[in-house]
Amino acid sequence: MIRVDKYVSDCTALSRRQAGEAIRQRRVTVNGAFEGSPDRKIDEATAEVTLDGAPLVYARFHWYMLNKPEGHVSSTDDPSGPTVLDLLPPEKRAGLFPCGRLDKNTTGLLLLTDDGKTAHGLLSPKKHVEKEYFFTVARPVTREDAEALERGVDIGVCVTKPCRVVLLSDTSGTITITEGKYHQIKEMFKNRMNKVTSLKRISFGGVKLDGTLPEGGYRALTGEELSVLTRRQEQ
Ligand code: URA
Repeated sequence: MIRVDKYVSDCTALSRRQAGEAIRQRRVTVNGAFEGSPDRKIDEATAEVTLDGAPLVYARFHWYMLNKPEGHVSSTDDPSGPTVLDLLPPEKRAGLFPCGRLDKNTTGLLLLTDDGKTAHGLLSPKKHVEKEYFFTVARPVTREDAEALERGVDIGVCVTKPCRVVLLSDTSGTITITEGKYHQIKEMFKNRMNKVTSLKRISFGGVKLDGTLPEGGYRALTGEELSVLTRRQEQ
């Protein structure tokens, strides 16, 4: 049995205090009836809870989508500056870690979770999970450049696996890779005598960055997004 405010906070991006406010504002139902007391105890295994009419699913693990801003390190602890976990309220951080890494100056979709097994599966090189990025570069990308990147280029540690490049202008486009080597996309463009000037991840394993999330904003994954990821990890 747990308190309703904890249940709502655990299932959403709301802090305990915000969940309590939502309950007092009668935005929450438990088993079909409006609930007004944040401290009411409910059975998390069987209770049917809604927030603003949408059913909540109480899961053992937590999954959040973060729109990472520049300047935050993708780790749980870093003495040199703020980490991506600092973007969440302290009470939500326990046990969470980033599922993968983005460079300090890369922005966009980063998943945060406490589900080590699924995260490990998604990050395994054997799973070839697709990661799509929007890029801008300093010099025009020729068709020859795009084809070479798609075939694979030497980035020192390896020759990259085939990927997909879609040009949106001379100096911008999207690139979809299935690996996660250190500074991979920057190194790939370096091989073509070019320089990445900005990089934003827009999807991971079939889950797209929510365009309504401001930079630094986060939200819980929906049940549908979570099942896309779980299915992807099982393949
Ligand atoms: N490739 C990079 O170069 N940097 C990132 O952050 C992600 C992919």
